[in-house]
Amino acid sequence: MSQIRSVAVLVGSLRKDSLNRRMAHVLAQLAPASLKLEIVEIGALSHYNQDDDANPPSSWIEFRGRVHAADAVLFVTPEYNRSVPGVLKNAIDIGSRPYGHSVWSGKPGAVVTVSPGAIGGFGANHHLRQSLVFLNVPAMPQPEAYIGNAADLFDAEGAVTNESTRGFLQKFMTAYAAWVEANHPRG
Ligand code: FNR
Repeated sequence: MSQIRSVAVLVGSLRKDSLNRRMAHVLAQLAPASLKLEIVEIGALSHYNQDDDANPPSSWIEFRGRVHAADAVLFVTPEYNRSVPGVLKNAIDIGSRPYGHSVWSGKPGAVVTVSPGAIGGFGANHHLRQSLVFLNVPAMPQPEAYIGNAADLFDAEGAVTNESTRGFLQKFMTAYAAWVEANHPRG
């Protein structure tokens, strides 16, 4: 079997009953054994302020360290007003600085958007991909994951019971494991 790759999972919602957090847990369960997924929390990060680059808060240092240590990144996020929730953008900005020391660069990534709406967070998915291009995160192009109508997706234990969706998510994680292996900079 190939080497185990650690994946930093960024969830773009702070809500206790977040559908996206549930999805992150499901993806961790469905991932092939070559991937180890861990959520890196972003809720306690203060707003990014460039003035603090010289003396960053400890929460930023810890966050940057955790993403830096990971082999890959997986974004699981809702769409807010057809874009990325501010809390996730804040985390992305914190990880990207100080200039020249971004923790994102070169880490193979993937994007999953989850929404109770029909479009499945398409707008957020692609706004996020725009940032990932600039951050030099090779984001898996296919399969795309716009998970719509998600309010009915999970049972009381947080499992995805719909066989077709479950199959798709499994396929997504298998493709992502191959993507991580193919694009991992450390070999
Ligand atoms: C939303 N929601 C939403 N949904 C969507 O599909 N497209 C959108 O543009 C928006 N915009 C939006 C803005 C704001 C400020 C909020 C609070 C919500 C609804 C959103 O998808 C829904 O609340 C999800 O349940 C949020 O994800 P979590 O928290 O369940 O993971």
